[in-house]
Amino acid sequence: MTDSSGRWEIAEYERLAAIAIAAAARFVAESQAGDVSVGSPPPLPELIDNLRLRSLIREGGLDPESFEPWLGEMLANSVRLHHPAQVAHQVGAPDVPAAVADLVQGVINQPMSIYEMGPAAHAMERVVIEWMSEKLGWPDGAGGVLTHGGSLANLTVLLAARAAAAPDAWVEGVDGALAVLAPQSTHYSVRRSVAMLGLGERAVVDLEVDEYERIVPGALGEALERCHAAGRRPMALVAAACATSTGLHDDLEAIGAFCRRHDIWFHVDAAHGATALLSPAHRHLLRGIEHADSAIWDAHKMMRTSALAAAVLLRDARRLEAAFKQKAAYLIYEDSDETGLSLLERQVECTKAALGTRIFLNVAFRGEQGIARYLEAQYSKTLRFWELIGARDGFECLSRPESNILCFRYGHDPDLQVRLREQLLREERFHLSSTEVNGERWLRMTVTAPATSEETVEGLLDAIEKLAAAG
Ligand SMILES: Cc1ncc(COP(=O)(O)O)c(C=O)c1O
Repeated sequence: MTDSSGRWEIAEYERLAAIAIAAAARFVAESQAGDVSVGSPPPLPELIDNLRLRSLIREGGLDPESFEPWLGEMLANSVRLHHPAQVAHQVGAPDVPAAVADLVQGVINQPMSIYEMGPAAHAMERVVIEWMSEKLGWPDGAGGVLTHGGSLANLTVLLAARAAAAPDAWVEGVDGALAVLAPQSTHYSVRRSVAMLGLGERAVVDLEVDEYERIVPGALGEALERCHAAGRRPMALVAAACATSTGLHDDLEAIGAFCRRHDIWFHVDAAHGATALLSPAHRHLLRGIEHADSAIWDAHKMMRTSALAAAVLLRDARRLEAAFKQKAAYLIYEDSDETGLSLLERQVECTKAALGTRIFLNVAFRGEQGIARYLEAQYSKTLRFWELIGARDGFECLSRPESNILCFRYGHDPDLQVRLREQLLREERFHLSSTEVNGERWLRMTVTAPATSEETVEGLLDAIEKLAAAG
C-alpha cells in the first residue's frame, strides 16, 4: 500500500520485491535444470482469462497475498530463456548483474538522456560506448549512443548516412536519388528504415548473394552499375556480422575495401555478432569492421543483458550529431558548454531507459573474458551440434556454423519442417524457430542458454525422428 499521499510504504516494497525475487530465482533454477517443460503458449484469449487481466485492469484487486500465486501463473506463461530446450530466438538468457540492474532501475527510474536527469546512468552509457568503440578498433573521435534495439539502431545509422549524403534532406526532404545497397537477406529493419527515411523501399539495391546468402564481393561492381543506371547514388552499403537467418558472416574486409574505393558509407549490422570481438578465438569473424563507417551491436543478444540495449556506433561521432538537426530549446542549450552533457542530438528517443547500466554491470562483474567465455562456449557447442546433426541419417545442416545460430532440416519437404516445429512446440518439449534461406525452408536453432547440451540436441533429434515417422 502507498499511504494516501502516494508516498511509498517501504515495507510493501520489501515484501513484494522479496516475493518477486524468490519467484524469479525459482523460475531460473527450474528452467536451467530442465525440471519443467519448455512450455507452449495457450490461445491468447485463454491466457487473458487465466491471468484475470481484464478484471484486474478494470477493478484492480492485486495485493501482497494474491500477488504470489498470480506471479506464479504469469511466470508459467512466460518463455523460459534459461531452459536447455529453448533454442528458438536470439534473445539472450540474461545474466545476474543485468537482471539486478533492472531491479534497481525499476526503483530509481533514471531517464538519462540528459546528464542531470540520471548522472550515474548517463556516465555508464558514455563509458560503455567508449569501450565498444575501442573494441571495434576505431580511432579517437569514434562514438555513438545506446538505443532501444537493433532496429532503431539501424534506423539511426541510416539517418546519419542520409545526412552525410544529402545534408539538406532534414529541411528539404529527400530528392529520390539516394540508394542503399543491401542483400535481400538483410534484417528487415534495414529495408523498413529506408522506407521510413522517405527514400522509398525501391531505393534498396539488392546485392548478389551466394547459396548461404552471404554477399558476393566480386559482384558489388555490377550492383553499383545497376544503382547508377537507375539514376541513384549510394548512401550506404549494409553487410551483416552475422546474418539473422543463417548466423553466417559477410566478408567485411573485401566489402569494406570496395566501399573505400568507391567512397560509399560502409555499415556493418553486427547486432548479433559484435560480441565476438571480445573473444580472441572468434574476433577474426569480424575482420574488416575496423574500416567500417558505422556498426550496430545488440547487448541483449550475446552480452546477456535484458532487452533492450543496442549500440549505434560511428567511426566519426560527429556524423551522428549531424543526423538530427533539431533543437528542443527547453532541453538543449544552444551555444552552451552544457551541450556535451546531452545525448538528445544523437538519438531518436527523448526519455530513454538506463540501457548502459545493464551492459556496464554485466561487463564489470564478468569481465570481458567472462563474456567471451560465454560466447565461446555457445559457439563451440553449436559446432558440436552441427557434427551430431550431420551424423544422423535423414538430417542435413545448411552449413558449418560460425556462431550460435544453426539451420538444419529433416528431409527436404518444406511443409514437414513447419509441421515438426509446431508439433515440438505443442508437445512443450522443444522451442525451435524456422527460416527460409535461398527459397528453402529450414529449422533454425539459436543456442543462447548455457544449459543447452549435447543431450538436449540428441533428445531433439530423437523427437523429430519419432514425429516424422508417425506422420
Ligand atoms: C542482424 C540483426 N539486425 C538487427 C536486428 C534487430 O534487432 P532488435 O530486435 O534489437 O530490434 C536483429 C534481430 O534479430 C538482427 O539479427
